[in-house]
Amino acid sequence: MPHTVVIFGASGDLTSRKLIPALYSLHCKGRLPKDTRIVGVARTNFSHDAWRKDLTETTQKFAGKEFDAAKWQAFAATVFYHPGNIDQTADFVSLAKMLDELEAGQSTTRVYYLSTSPKLYAAAIGNLGAAGLADESRGVRRVVIEKPIGTDLATGQELNRATHLVFDEKQVYRIDHYLGKETVQNILVLRFANSTFEPLWNRHYIDHVQITVAEDVDVARRADYYDHSGVLRDMFQNHLLQLLTVTAMEAPARFTADAVRDEKMKVLRSIKPMSGGDFASDTVRAQYEGYREHKGVAPGSQTATFAALKLRIENWRWQGVPFYLRSGKAMSCRTSQIVIQFRPPPVMIFRDGQRTQHDPNKLVVQIQPDEGIQLHLQSKVPDQGMRLQTTDLDFKFAREFSAVMPDSYQRLLLDAMNGDASLFARSDEVECAWGIIDPIHAAWQSPAAPPLETYPLGNWGPDSCDKWMQAQGRQWFDVCPVLH
Ligand code: BG6
Repeated sequence: MPHTVVIFGASGDLTSRKLIPALYSLHCKGRLPKDTRIVGVARTNFSHDAWRKDLTETTQKFAGKEFDAAKWQAFAATVFYHPGNIDQTADFVSLAKMLDELEAGQSTTRVYYLSTSPKLYAAAIGNLGAAGLADESRGVRRVVIEKPIGTDLATGQELNRATHLVFDEKQVYRIDHYLGKETVQNILVLRFANSTFEPLWNRHYIDHVQITVAEDVDVARRADYYDHSGVLRDMFQNHLLQLLTVTAMEAPARFTADAVRDEKMKVLRSIKPMSGGDFASDTVRAQYEGYREHKGVAPGSQTATFAALKLRIENWRWQGVPFYLRSGKAMSCRTSQIVIQFRPPPVMIFRDGQRTQHDPNKLVVQIQPDEGIQLHLQSKVPDQGMRLQTTDLDFKFAREFSAVMPDSYQRLLLDAMNGDASLFARSDEVECAWGIIDPIHAAWQSPAAPPLETYPLGNWGPDSCDKWMQAQGRQWFDVCPVLH
């Protein structure tokens, strides 16, 4: 069946930086369904050719060496443009007419991608409904929405309600681009296609789990948005909680969208809500030095650019195993990693005369960059009595596979076209995640808040965060990946 991808917000950054390069790359790999057309919609009064010309330049820049002029020509011929204003129902009616003409009355699968400001999602969805564009009498109609889905539970629910007035849940694809990362999907493979780790993947063998998403960039470019959002809403409600669910979930009965999402939901529901003194004892918040000097940041802003949370999952598998989540801007390096820290052996029989304590085993899932998995083990140092040292078994995607890691949008766009929602967030997941984050956000505006610490640029957050971990007898895995 022919496919039409309609991108609202066609002149925006996400479209030129991610969506078009991803679609072009899929075209080059021959993965796009036969007869796929792309239609851009934005306010600018472009012709088809003017938009194609614009995209040629931006895609050349983002595709770099992969850009192939002949392949681009063929791809660009399937790209069209329709000027339109999200607020205007009449523009959606004319879009509907244009799409019908383009598709020559055939049955098609249509994917409406909302790459607009989140403020416009409800209006866009309302107008898609009003213009009959959600009607499935001539093929499947799907809508793709980027995060953030609301800015808290109430607005998230409101958007879900407005969406469900027009689209059935099975037509809705909510993107969390972390789920499109190969290494995040590989966590499911590591856990459920191997029998080695799963028997150990529980409270009997695991001491704690660390999930870190560190970024070295600051927020200068997006300070206006960021100052209203902060790290909890920008990173924890979505990416970090998604990483936690794939790490902690039970094996789904099948690898189907609802079976996977049901298991993820069970994890989210089992997270113990914080209350009372928990906010001060189980959260750390900080802001990097100089943040308040960015244009767009309110004077005296209390927005956290770094946070660490200790979450407890109250179920049979994880009772008593803390999950430490941390993320921040302007940190030491860009690295996303999940560290599974196993319990130490019950008795250490090897004594080297100096120390009897050795690092317990760790499984480090390096999500990005330098993607891979390392298992840290104790090993005997040759010719030195019974001296032990930590070594690792080191798997690297780049060494093992010649394929370049595709951008997450390739997988997610293709899945949305093919109707596989396994890697997309369901409405209940999004709402449950807001239900976890909202109380922390509210407490941070109240006297229950821990102090807002500061940290110098290029640090692993504030020193107090290390002390917080040490006070619990644990240590952060502060290792920057080695880039080749
Ligand atoms: C986005 C956040 O969702 O994810 C950004 O809004 C953040 O603040 C980005 O920089 C991180 O994504 P990635 O794929 O670069 O790790």
